[in-house]
Amino acid sequence: MTTKPPTPPTPPTPPSPPAEVTKPLDHTVDGRPYSPGLEGVLAAETSLGLVDGANGRLMYRGYRIGDLVAHGSYASVANLLWTGEWDPKARLTTGRVPSAVISTLRALPRTAKPMDALRTAVSVWGATQVLDWPPTAIQARALTEFSPSALAAFIRLREDLEPIDPDPKLDIVSGFLYQLTGVRPDRATARALDAYFIVGAEHGLNASTFAARVITSTRSDIASAVAGAIGAMKGPLHGGAPSEVVEQIHKVGSPEHAEEWIRDALARGERLMGFGHRVYRAYDPRATALRKVVEAMPARPDWLELAIKVEDVALRVLEEKYPDRPLKTNVEFYAAAVLQGVGLTPDLFPATFALARHAGWTAHVLEQASANRLIRPDARFIGVEERDLPT
Ligand code: ACO
Repeated sequence: MTTKPPTPPTPPTPPSPPAEVTKPLDHTVDGRPYSPGLEGVLAAETSLGLVDGANGRLMYRGYRIGDLVAHGSYASVANLLWTGEWDPKARLTTGRVPSAVISTLRALPRTAKPMDALRTAVSVWGATQVLDWPPTAIQARALTEFSPSALAAFIRLREDLEPIDPDPKLDIVSGFLYQLTGVRPDRATARALDAYFIVGAEHGLNASTFAARVITSTRSDIASAVAGAIGAMKGPLHGGAPSEVVEQIHKVGSPEHAEEWIRDALARGERLMGFGHRVYRAYDPRATALRKVVEAMPARPDWLELAIKVEDVALRVLEEKYPDRPLKTNVEFYAAAVLQGVGLTPDLFPATFALARHAGWTAHVLEQASANRLIRPDARFIGVEERDLPT
């Protein structure tokens, strides 16, 4: 037998709000925790990059980063991220730059940062394309092939040089260096930069990738998502600073000064650039992969020899100083070694990183679109909730 629930009492009429109502300071809203920076919040599902900091592992679609660098190319990795298929023969070249983009790049001040020029170029490129929803692997490929040509064009224009047309016989990384310098790179140089592009291609739900997914979730187009991602990556808190590693190695000057310089720097309370990581507690697997490439370079410039010496001394001294805390080499150290080693100037490092990340950003755009839900979190309101206008 069921009993009829009692009729609830009629709720009293709420009193009119006072002239000023403020929210109490509380770190939860309706029992939900507030997490500044979304730390600890699971905001997406992905099968692209797995970052396992505790064990020093990084996998793209399950394949270890070291194996991808040893046996793949940036083209095969980009193809893997976009399609899930491993094709070691996959090819990417550099793309043509539409005249609207060239005119815009010509109009930029030559002092514009390469990241600003790249973001602008991607935006103008988007305006010249038909980028229907949903985004496709063809769109991802076209954008990834366009950006190196656009960046190279800007770097030449700011030096009063004319842009160089793509050479379809060159792969994307060799093509980028050729369009930048006018010289076709040797195999070792192209291989080193290709390895850097592979390790930079993807790294989970970092800020720029999240930005790309948020933009995609509104059903905006792939160029808007990547332009937003470049904007997010431009901030100094993202992407680290391999140029600071270069500066540090220049300050060391020569191998025989390495030990003294490092001990003095630590005694002054300075941090050694290229060591330690918030997520990786072991040697960064990307640094391991890049170090192997650097060591295999047939003619290592003195600068690289010095970098290798600085790393060996720094690891020993850091272990002495922090025996209980693993402070190992991070990706920035060997990123700096590779970028400097292939002849790029430090002001190009962030934009080159952005070129490499195109594969990951665009793969996340495709993944977001394939199971889309508008990303729309809530904010904890901490202002004056309601008040009367001053009379
Ligand atoms: N050199 C010297 N000491 C260091 C270094 C370093 N590179 N990194 C950490 N320490 C010391 C700290 O001074 C601190 O010592 P204390 O306990 O005596 O104060 C201790 O180790 C712990 O430091 P935390 O800040 O807790 O380490 P955390 O893991 O949070 O920091 C970070 C990671 C920011 C990357 C740090 O290691 C660092 O500043 N490294 C140098 C900069 C660098 O290489 N950045 C690139 C990172 S990779 C990337 O962004 C893709």
